[in-house]
Order: sequence, then structure tokens, then C-alpha cells
Amino acid sequence: MASAATGTGGQGQRGGNPGNSSGRVLIAYFSMPETTAPNNMSRAEDDSTVVIDGKVLGNTQYVAHLIQENTGGDIFRIEPKTPYPTNHRTLVNLAQKEQSDNARPELAANIPNLDRYDVIFLGYPNWWADMPMILYSFLESVDLSGKTIIPFNTHGGNGFSDTIGTIAKLQPNAAVDKNGFTVFRDDVHKCADDVAAWLRKLGY
Ligand SMILES: Cc1cc2nc3c(=O)[nH]c(=O)nc-3n(C[C@H](O)[C@H](O)[C@H](O)COP(=O)(O)O)c2cc1C
Repeated sequence: MASAATGTGGQGQRGGNPGNSSGRVLIAYFSMPETTAPNNMSRAEDDSTVVIDGKVLGNTQYVAHLIQENTGGDIFRIEPKTPYPTNHRTLVNLAQKEQSDNARPELAANIPNLDRYDVIFLGYPNWWADMPMILYSFLESVDLSGKTIIPFNTHGGNGFSDTIGTIAKLQPNAAVDKNGFTVFRDDVHKCADDVAAWLRKLGY
């Protein structure tokens, strides 16, 4: 769904309220739900998912959808060309190896018409106290100069770690909101009001 909003936007201030509610919005996110089956989940599967109306969503995926509902923005899921394993232990080990190898997993697709967006809500889970390496692939493959990046994440206790600073380094000519929205994985299922309140403060 395209945003109804028009305007120039894109000139948010670092550290403060970006005040870009007039710009065209894209929500780009990566999320790795460890199952698609809503019943009889293991602890690890339950930790990485929320079930909404019988449908299984990844934690970050759910937050991305809430942001879309509140902003009317377009949504894009960042995915690797080679899908990640859903087995928790295998996934955790692979993610650790990608990090120690400083890997850049190949993206399945690029964002169509990136030029038309002024504000990018960028979402990801905390993996090994950092962004998943595919976020590095993504941020190194696009030029977000002049746009506002508003990070959001879900986590198992570490919040954003240093990821917001890393995003600012990878996109030095974008205005990166230093605050963003972060939510602990056990609270994701009840975060809709907090997401709406946060977005209201940003002018949505
Ligand atoms: C490979 C992997 C590594 C993780 N490392 C961390 C971590 O270092 N710190 C943390 O707080 N949570 C960590 N988590 C927990 C996830 O951030 C959390 O479950 C998140 O909500 C998953 O979001 P998703 O369902 O959108 O993928 C890790 C999860 C996975 C799968």
C-alpha cells in the first residue's frame, strides 16, 4: 500500500524527533521466525514469534506491520538469497560464524523505487549483540543519503546494542534517529500501544 502522504521530508535531525511525518515512508525489516506452525512450539520457536489471528509472525515482522498500520507506509522484507535455517541451534551457530567471518550474505532482492522514499523505518532482531550480517549487506548496497532512518528492533535482553551508531557509520549522509523503538521479545505480543505512542511522538 502506498503512503498517501506527500512532501519533501527527509531532513530529520540527528538525535531528536525526526519530524518527518510528511515524507514518504518505507518500512524495511529483517525477521527470522523459527517456525510457521502456530501450535506446539518449542521454547525457542515461541521466543522468536507472535501468533496473531492464528498466523505466525516473527517478532520484528510483527512490529514492522504495526508501523505500517500506523504510518500507511510501504513494507519491504529484507531476505537472504539462501534462506536461513529455522532450527535454533543451527541458526545461532550460523549467525555467529557470519559475524566472525564479517560475512555479507547475498540479498534475495533489492527495494524497488528506493528514490521515492524519504523516511526508512529499519527493523531487525539483535543477533549476537549486533545487527544480523544481512543488515550490513543491505546498508552497504543502498545509498540513503538525505533520507531519515528510524531504527526499530526486538531482542532477548540486549536492546539495540551499538547498532544505531553502526547504521549511522554505514549511512553517513542519512539522518539516523538515535532513539528508535526497541522491545524485549516476551513483550512483543503486547507492544501495539507502545508502538502507536512512539509513532505519535514522531508525528504519525
Ligand atoms: C542467531 C540469534 C542470535 C541472537 N543473539 C541475541 C543477542 O546477542 N542479544 C539479544 O538480546 N538477543 C539475541 N537474540 C534474540 C533475538 O534478538 C530475539 O529473539 C528477537 O526478538 C528475534 O526476532 P525475529 O523473530 O524478528 O527474528 C538472538 C537470536 C538469534 C536467532
